[in-house]
Amino acid sequence: MLIAKKNCKGHQEMDKTSIQGSFFGRTSEGIPVEEYTLVNCNGMLVRFITLGGVIRELHTPGRKGTFTDVVLGFDSVAEYEGSDNPYFGSIVGRYANRIAQGKFSIDDENYTLARNQPPNSLHGGFRSFKDVVWKAIARYSSPGQAITFKYKSHDGEEGYPGNLSVTVTYTLTDKNELKIEYTATTDKPTIVNLTNHSYFNLSGAGAGDILNHVLMLLADKYTPVDDTLIPTGEIAPVEDTSLDFTASTRIGARIDQFVNTPPAGYDHNYVLNSQDGSLALAAQAYEPNFGRLMEVFTTEPGIQLYTGNLLDRIKGKNGMTYLKNGALCLECQHYPDSPNNSNFPSTVLRVGEQYRETTIYKFSTK
Ligand code: BGC
Repeated sequence: MLIAKKNCKGHQEMDKTSIQGSFFGRTSEGIPVEEYTLVNCNGMLVRFITLGGVIRELHTPGRKGTFTDVVLGFDSVAEYEGSDNPYFGSIVGRYANRIAQGKFSIDDENYTLARNQPPNSLHGGFRSFKDVVWKAIARYSSPGQAITFKYKSHDGEEGYPGNLSVTVTYTLTDKNELKIEYTATTDKPTIVNLTNHSYFNLSGAGAGDILNHVLMLLADKYTPVDDTLIPTGEIAPVEDTSLDFTASTRIGARIDQFVNTPPAGYDHNYVLNSQDGSLALAAQAYEPNFGRLMEVFTTEPGIQLYTGNLLDRIKGKNGMTYLKNGALCLECQHYPDSPNNSNFPSTVLRVGEQYRETTIYKFSTK
């Protein structure tokens, strides 16, 4: 396995040839999947695979300097392709989250999407961006080491209109930030909502649940949903509800409020206070035992808090078993079912426009 490591002492000319992929495995169709590893000057390591543009490992230091892998994942391509894969670490698209009945229209043209979670469409359909092998280009860039994943989604794929060219660039900086930049262009009006579906456990992947993580969300409002997790269209205050994370609160403190109703834990879209498209702090998650703090910055108007409610003894990396609430996802995105709610920020992308969004996960200790 080749590791891309820049010369941290003196920042001399770097060896541009040293970032390369290594073979990770083959898909069931025989397509080779490569793995890329980036390491920054502090030793923080991120490992990607070209299937789904997945973040497969992310090693960050704890308070005592011990590095631990804090994202859930699998050891083999077959497991990433399997039906047990709940989108571990993958790029999600074309539309992250749900679209009611898989239906929407643009300019009076009606479209029907793959309904992979009946009656709705979830995370792009049956063969979504997590299921395709992306083209990877790794390089050094001024804030860090970067890897760009590219994919051309064809007109009609999973029901979506327009040929869509997508790039997702991950940059690992020496400030221990993992920056994710998404762009997309189309040749027909379409809808786009991209995110990354990493499952974080700041104690270490497979090391128990995240109920003792302390969470803060810069969101005064959320989008209430029906029992198929489709928004009602209302934008409601979190104040005086168990969804209020405006002050730092243990995730487990009120999670029981949801056990008897879908979604059986947190699985809610929060309306972020920052709505102007600038890169703003959206969330902070802190694990008190090892002292890891993860800050999330985004240009997006929403964040889905998902507490791994459906993780049910999934066999993960290195023989670990992932249990219910064994991780938390903070998916920066537009709101679910935006195409059918004109009061939500638009997810329509038109010919000649460029879709551009940025999210940063920043790691430190306290
Ligand atoms: C959704 C959950 C879903 C999970 C895995 C999350 O983004 O909000 O409802 O179960 O992804 O598919």
